[in-house]
Amino acid sequence: MAALFISNSFVLTCCLVILTSMLFSSYAELLRFQHPPKSPHGSLSFLVLGDWGRRGAFNQSLVALQMGRIGEKLDIDFVVSTGDNFYENGLKSEQDHAFQESFTKIYTAKSLQKQWYSVLGNHDYRGNAEAQLSPHLRNLDSRWLCLRSFIVDAELAEIFFVDTTPFVDVYFSDGEGHSYDWKGIPSRKSYIANLIKDLELALRESYAKWKIVIGHHAIRSIGHHGDTQELVDKLLPVLMANNVDFYMNGHDHCLEHISDTKSPIQFLTSGAGSKAWRGDLKELNREGLKFFYDGQGFMSVQLTQTEAEIAFYDVFGNILHRWTTTKLLYQSL
Ligand SMILES: *[C@@H]1O[C@H](CO)[C@@H](O)[C@H](O)[C@H]1NC(C)=O
Repeated sequence: MAALFISNSFVLTCCLVILTSMLFSSYAELLRFQHPPKSPHGSLSFLVLGDWGRRGAFNQSLVALQMGRIGEKLDIDFVVSTGDNFYENGLKSEQDHAFQESFTKIYTAKSLQKQWYSVLGNHDYRGNAEAQLSPHLRNLDSRWLCLRSFIVDAELAEIFFVDTTPFVDVYFSDGEGHSYDWKGIPSRKSYIANLIKDLELALRESYAKWKIVIGHHAIRSIGHHGDTQELVDKLLPVLMANNVDFYMNGHDHCLEHISDTKSPIQFLTSGAGSKAWRGDLKELNREGLKFFYDGQGFMSVQLTQTEAEIAFYDVFGNILHRWTTTKLLYQSL
């Protein structure tokens, strides 16, 4: 009897293992986090910051101070980081003090003691990329959550975080003289193909009123780096086909708003968390440009069932640009 029991449970375990591996390989591998808005009215607000970790230097501390003030005023639900979290070369290890010196000890305001959702930027890949993904950092500061690609389901909005660094060709050729930590990405080709497939599936299945995609690199930008052609080719078509409202990124150290001329997508750059003022605008593609600011600051997003409001702030907390859009309450997806 005992032997039969063991063999039965063994068979059952095998079946479960096979079944779950089948499920996980055919369904979205993107981890999903639930973050219901705290407001009883179902409105949602958050701040977006990028390109910041410099131990307070280059106005990082000033930006942090104003984020605290605006975060309080808007009663934010969480903070989004568009990557390049730690300069110059990411974190060396989970023990790297840059984590405390550039994050914990900088964003000290009460309103910023919320969950932070972060992606990796190209500078993060120049260090130990996996260190930033480690649960150890969450023990040091429970606000921290950084993964390569994942989904935050905030009911009213679904936010899709995409690891854009592996898309960019130059990091795999000469790397502009830098080395990148690609362990964990054994095959670039299948990594990108799976990510696009998972994203496409998750976007298609989303019933959220607002669909937001976050990545480090810009799809469209007139700043220093300009458009990221690899994302224009591979990512943009997926966003256009799935009614994405906003694409938010960092990488260019500026604040910027470009409206797509072929779809309702708004391209929003918030990469001004510390070093900025590069002063080298691309004169190229200015189609749809609504706003550009070369200095430091951050962005806020406020959403309700029917309205979205985006605002950009400088280091004094002044609003530099504000943009709103409306949706019908029962607008079909
Ligand atoms: C800090 O911000 C002020 C105001 O925008 C600017 O004048 C100054 O150049 C900034 N400092 C740095 C180091 O970028």
